[in-house]
Amino acid sequence: MILLTGGAGYIGSHMMLELLKANYKVVVLDNLSNSSLEAIRRVEKLANSTCIFIEGDVRDANCLDSLFAKYSIDAVLHFAALKAVGESTENPLLYFDNNISGNLQLLQSMQHFGITKLVFSSSATVYGEPEKLPIAEDCPMSMPANPYGYTKMVVEQMLMQLVESNPAWSVAALRYFNPVGAHESGLIGEDPNGIPNNLLPYIAQVAVGKRQKLSVYGDDYTTHDGTGVRDYIHVMDLVRGHLCALYYITNKVGYFVWNLGSGKGHSVLDMVTAFEQASGKSVPYQIVERRSGDIASCYADATKAFDELGWSTEKTIEDMMQDTWRWQKMNPNGYAD
Ligand code: NAD
Ligand code: WQD
Repeated sequence: MILLTGGAGYIGSHMMLELLKANYKVVVLDNLSNSSLEAIRRVEKLANSTCIFIEGDVRDANCLDSLFAKYSIDAVLHFAALKAVGESTENPLLYFDNNISGNLQLLQSMQHFGITKLVFSSSATVYGEPEKLPIAEDCPMSMPANPYGYTKMVVEQMLMQLVESNPAWSVAALRYFNPVGAHESGLIGEDPNGIPNNLLPYIAQVAVGKRQKLSVYGDDYTTHDGTGVRDYIHVMDLVRGHLCALYYITNKVGYFVWNLGSGKGHSVLDMVTAFEQASGKSVPYQIVERRSGDIASCYADATKAFDELGWSTEKTIEDMMQDTWRWQKMNPNGYAD
């Protein structure tokens, strides 16, 4: 049985679907601070199967202890975290508490119950401004530009030290590049609160008529068209990578880090054009100032995950755009519809 924290969220809901489809028994723990129960209902419908849902907080020791006492958990997939970069800059303590204390509490309860297998949702943000491209896992972590990124770096360091002190643990830190897209059914997807922070949800809301135009943050970077380049990864490829990592740590102990990215970089304007092609809608944009903390380019060397997990991305940029558009069109107001 798997504990999936943050399973009602964007990536967690897709993860829950893949777990149920692979016949895992799943306990989802989520405080619904950035998600809706409707996501869980839809996943259950798609999977034709159910999970055990617990509304609770990873910082709540009693909640975790009673969960671990009641269910026989073999491994934990830890997705629960706050992830809004801007908000983290305004309120770092909230992020330290939720993301770092939450992780610490989870580890303490796991240790107490002898559960030693963990997959952690990390981020390419831990590389900071990369020394070279593409970015491989041996590229050193460097101080991320914001408190959100800092929480990911701290948690990775905690996990590393924990495994070093107790070799019974088996931990995978998965460094996501830029997750986008939605399940091909259009029933589950990313449902941002208010104005989207990330590029693709913003583009999708312009295309569906909810926002007037996209602001492109800078066109004077040293990239092929001057706009920022990122490694976009389809959420279904991403969650499949977790299944591979879960399988791997089931059979091995130690601390493992894998990049989950496609290895390809796309600029903001590449993404606008690809979205327009997939949707048949126009996406008006204006070039504005650079966004503070942004870097020019970031894309993965994903060979380690391929060599060790046999995993690589399968979905194309067109798939990402089509699936995002289907989700946006079918759910213009997200799960509130
Ligand atoms: P999300 O906000 O959609 O999902 C996170 C879920 O965790 C939400 O359902 C939220 O209600 C829940 N949650 C938050 N704090 C909690 C707590 N203290 N206790 C219980 N539940 C809590 O975010 P997502 O995009 O699905 O991200 C999932 C994970 O992947 C996060 O750890 C995030 O930092 C990481 N990640 C995301 C991205 C991205 O671009 N989406 C990139 C890299 C890493
Ligand atoms: C992508 C590109 C922007 C919005 C962030 C977090 C990272 C991870 C993923 C995790 C950049 C440009 C964006 C817009 C734009 N988060 N852009 N107009 O910044 O690579 O990564 O999300 O949980 O930690 O930092 O992703 O989607 O915000 O931006 O021009 O309205 O699009 O400048 O070049 P980013 P993003």
